[in-house]
Amino acid sequence: MYKTHFGLQELPFTITPDTSFFFAHSSHQEALNTLLVAVRSGEGFMKVVGEVGTGKTLLCRKFMSALDHREFVTAFIPNPYLQPMTLLFACADELGIKYQQHINQHQLLKLINRYLIDTYGEGKRVVVCLDEAQAIPIETLESLRLLSNLETERRKLIQVVLFGQPELNVRLDNPSIRQLKQRVSFACQLSPLSMSEVEFYISHRLAVAGYRGPRLFPHKAVKRIYRASQGIPRLVNILAHKSLMAAFGEGAHVATERHVRMAVADTESTQGASMVKATILKYLTALVSAVPVVSLLPLAALVISGVSPMTGGSV
Ligand SMILES: Nc1ncnc2c1ncn2[C@@H]1O[C@H](COP(=O)(O)OP(=O)(O)O)[C@@H](O)[C@H]1O
Ligand SMILES: [Mg+2]
Repeated sequence: MYKTHFGLQELPFTITPDTSFFFAHSSHQEALNTLLVAVRSGEGFMKVVGEVGTGKTLLCRKFMSALDHREFVTAFIPNPYLQPMTLLFACADELGIKYQQHINQHQLLKLINRYLIDTYGEGKRVVVCLDEAQAIPIETLESLRLLSNLETERRKLIQVVLFGQPELNVRLDNPSIRQLKQRVSFACQLSPLSMSEVEFYISHRLAVAGYRGPRLFPHKAVKRIYRASQGIPRLVNILAHKSLMAAFGEGAHVATERHVRMAVADTESTQGASMVKATILKYLTALVSAVPVVSLLPLAALVISGVSPMTGGSV
């Protein structure tokens, strides 16, 4: 809704993990480099752990798109809260393996093995990435280990990358899957952004979204975003987006510390009318006298219904 107002080509702070916005801050770049090196070493398991909103899904997508598809075949399992057999089916589907309807686990593993050997024969490596890996049931983790047992004399036929919240570490500590834990040969930790990284992160996303004007978030505003978000990218996005809405709601061209405070209050408040929404409504009402009403109706409807144009979620 504020795109034209700020001269943007797209919304800069959506919460979808879009790789075109990837910002290579220290912890992300390090994790990406580690994965790209590790995947060439042919070890079985790799692990990336990070708190909610630190960018695991984005890193996973970035990692997969960074792999040369002449050399790697990738499979992405976004939600592996699955029974062992269902997970094997999901892997087979992702890899494009055809199977008959009533196949059993043994037959399916054989088919996958065949596929892996053929792919190996073509000089390619197979990488399976599992997001939200903290939710994988223990028995399913065990079946992943069986899958990764498939190997040639020289190296593993399949490599598995687990992306998960810190609970993943707890899960891997479970004695019943200690063998899998021993197989994790590379582990990376995603940390939140530092204050200066938040500063670069915000201007990077704005630039990618097409912003070319003077500084939109003064230092003090960024500082407040940093404090409220603790450097967690998803929270930075939510606060920056709402601050821009608040500024837009006043017809301003800079998102000041006050706008950020409104955004923070709006995000933290769990009840009552949203301040940001109220400001925008006031602004739109003022505009109505100057602009044909019909052209503003869809926008007003969005604000009233509380639907955020960026997330489809609540503003
Ligand atoms: N390094 C980064 N560069 C650009 N955007 C990022 C980065 N890290 C996280 N984000 C953004 O933060 C939001 C949350 O990231 P996501 O990958 O969904 O987090 P997680 O999967 O860890 O919960 C997304 O909008 C994502 O684009
Ligand atoms: Mg995620």
